[in-house]
Amino acid sequence: MGSKKIPRVDLPEGVRLDTLAVREGLPPSAWGENSEALFLTSSFVQPDAASAAARFANEEEAFIYSRFTNPTVTMFERRLAALEGAEGSIATSSGMSAILLLGMGLLKAGDHVICSQSVFGSTIMLLGREFAKFGVETTFVSQTDVAQWRSAVQANTKLLFAESPTNPLTEVCDIRALSEVAKGAGAVLAVDNCFCSPALQRPIEYGADLVIHSGTKYLDGQGRVIAGAICGPEKLINERFVPVMRSAGMALSPFNAWVVLKGLETLSIRMRVQSERALALAAWLEAQPQVERVYYPGLASHPQHALAMAQQSGSGGAVVSFIVAAEGADKAARARRHAFHVIDSTRVCSITANLGDTKTTITHPASTSHGRLSEEQRLAAGITQGMIRVAVGLDDVEDIKADLDRGLRTL
Ligand SMILES: Cc1ncc(COP(=O)(O)O)c(C=O)c1O
Repeated sequence: MGSKKIPRVDLPEGVRLDTLAVREGLPPSAWGENSEALFLTSSFVQPDAASAAARFANEEEAFIYSRFTNPTVTMFERRLAALEGAEGSIATSSGMSAILLLGMGLLKAGDHVICSQSVFGSTIMLLGREFAKFGVETTFVSQTDVAQWRSAVQANTKLLFAESPTNPLTEVCDIRALSEVAKGAGAVLAVDNCFCSPALQRPIEYGADLVIHSGTKYLDGQGRVIAGAICGPEKLINERFVPVMRSAGMALSPFNAWVVLKGLETLSIRMRVQSERALALAAWLEAQPQVERVYYPGLASHPQHALAMAQQSGSGGAVVSFIVAAEGADKAARARRHAFHVIDSTRVCSITANLGDTKTTITHPASTSHGRLSEEQRLAAGITQGMIRVAVGLDDVEDIKADLDRGLRTL
C-alpha cells in the first residue's frame, strides 16, 4: 500500500478490550452517526481517473469494490483484529470460506498439512478431500498428543491446523506446544477459535500465527448470519490473502459484516453468562445416572481441565457434550435411539446444528455436523452414536436442565 491510508478511529492509547469491542473500526462519516453505518454498495465512486488507477494499483488505500474493500467490512475486520490481539484480519463469507482462503493463500500442489483429527467435520472434508484434489496432502493426528504432531512433520509441511476446544468433544490442544512444533517445521500454525472467541481465548498470545473464525457462531451470537474471518500479521494478510480474495471473491457481504460487527459489542458479556450456565448444566449432567460421560473443559473430570483453565481465561466455554448410557449387544443402535429420545423430548432447546446462539441449541453430532464422515473417521474423532451436544445460550439454565431431564428420566 502507498502512503495514503484509510483513517483509524481516534481512541486514547491503551484503551481496553471492552472499549475496543464497542468502538474500534472507522471514524464516522460526514453525518456523525453514533452507530456504525451499513455501506450497502457494490462499488465506490472515484474522484478522477488517475486516483482510480492509483487505487487499483494499490498505491493508495481506498474503498474500490465490495468484493475486497468495503467500510462496514473494514470496521468488522479492525474490531475483530483488536479483540484477537492481531495486527489485522480479513473477513470471509463463512467460517469454511476462511479455511478455504487460508489454504488457497498458503498452499500449493506438493505441500503438506498436519491437522487435528477432531476438528469440525467440514474442515476434515475440505482438507482431506477437496484440497487433496489439488495435490495438497493432509495428515490427521490426535488433538492432544503433541508427539504425534511432531512426528508427522515432513520437509514439505507448510501448515498446522487445530481447533480448540474441538467440536463436539471439547478436546483442548496445547497451543504453545503446537506453535513450537510449527516453528521447528518452518510452518504456520492456524487455530480455529470458534468455540472460545477472543472473549475467552486469544491464540496469538500462545504463539499461533493465524486465528480462524466462524463469525456465524459467538461473534454474531444470535444465529442471524453466516460469516468468517482470518486474523494475523498484516504482511501475511496483505501478501497471501488479499490477492486471493480479490481473485476468488469469498467476500463477506456488508450487511452480514454489520450484523457481526454489532454482535462483537456484546460478545464478552454473552460469553461470560453463557459459560457460567454451561458449567452449571455440565455439573448437573455429570450427576445424572442416565449420563455415561460429560465432556466440558470447565469440569475437573475433563482430561485437559488444567490446560483449558490456563488457556481459556479460567472458563470452559458454552458448549457441553455428553453421552447417554446404553447397554447390550446392539449398544451403538440403542445409544442412538436414546440420544434421539432425549433430543426429541426437549421443548425449549432448538434442535439445530448451529451453536453460539443466545437460544440454547441441541444436536446429535454423529448424524448431523459429522454425518458425512466415515464411521472410522467419526470414531477417530471420538464421536459415538450416544453423544449429544448442547450449546448453552441465555435461556435460564433451570429450564434447560428440566428440558433434558424430561427425556433422560423416561429412557
Ligand atoms: C469449529 C468450527 N469451525 C468452522 C465452522 C464453519 O463455519 P461456517 O458454518 O460459518 O462456515 C464451524 C461450523 O459449525 C465450526 O463449528
